[in-house]
Amino acid sequence: MAAELSPIDKAKFLAAKRAVGYVENGMKLGLGTGSTAAWMVRCLAERVREEGLRVTGVPTSSRTAELARSLGIPVTSLDEARWLDLTIDGADEFDPELNLIKGGGAALLQEKIVATASDQMIVIADAAKEVAQLGAFPLPVEVIPFGWQTTKALIEELLQSMDVMARECSLRMNGDAPLITDEANYIIDLHLKRIGNPRQLALVLNQIPGVVENGLFIDICDIVVIGHPDGRVIVRDINSGETADERVEFAPSDNIFADLGD
Ligand code: 5RP
Repeated sequence: MAAELSPIDKAKFLAAKRAVGYVENGMKLGLGTGSTAAWMVRCLAERVREEGLRVTGVPTSSRTAELARSLGIPVTSLDEARWLDLTIDGADEFDPELNLIKGGGAALLQEKIVATASDQMIVIADAAKEVAQLGAFPLPVEVIPFGWQTTKALIEELLQSMDVMARECSLRMNGDAPLITDEANYIIDLHLKRIGNPRQLALVLNQIPGVVENGLFIDICDIVVIGHPDGRVIVRDINSGETADERVEFAPSDNIFADLGD
């Protein structure tokens, strides 16, 4: 079964498996969203099943909640949990300071709230997510539907004074209709190509009425775990400044591959 995985899925799986090694008994965990985070949920479920690991998960989307529940991971709300030990999530891009672009899966709002309410955030990724400078991936901005065209115009006006390489903004669609997030909002994707000052952009975007949150995660991620298809896993800790070059055994149980829905 494992041999059928694409190289990218192997990389994602290995990063997820290594990151789940940080989970300890009794932890309250933020569960990210996306294809890499889905591997993490499966690896976590395996530890719950095989080792009797006791954890409580706070999912960052309805998709993740459904997957976690279906695999037997106890889940609760952030309001119930209040504060979390660790969040493990994917990312669309990370830079050398471990600043991130997130929201490719339209879950950035809950992801940012959950990661911010955690002692530690670990990002799991394949090597393609690593960039010298953020911005090649379109930056998602969650906006309320009311007056969204005005909000979009205000974002475009703001971008005129920002250090970015391009300034095109588009409403994210789901077929013929706007994509609706779990919080019933819209997403505007900012095609910027290069973001010169992500910290400044993150702050000013959130000053615009109608903007709920943006997908720039600044000073939130502590550790990135980068998987490679050949079994190499790089663990970079921004706080200690240490980078470890490890190998992770590719020997998943059949159980992990039983449910491959994202
Ligand atoms: C969802 C996210 C995801 O973490 C991000 O899009 C990465 O997804 P994937 O692991 O599928 O590449 O931010 O909102």
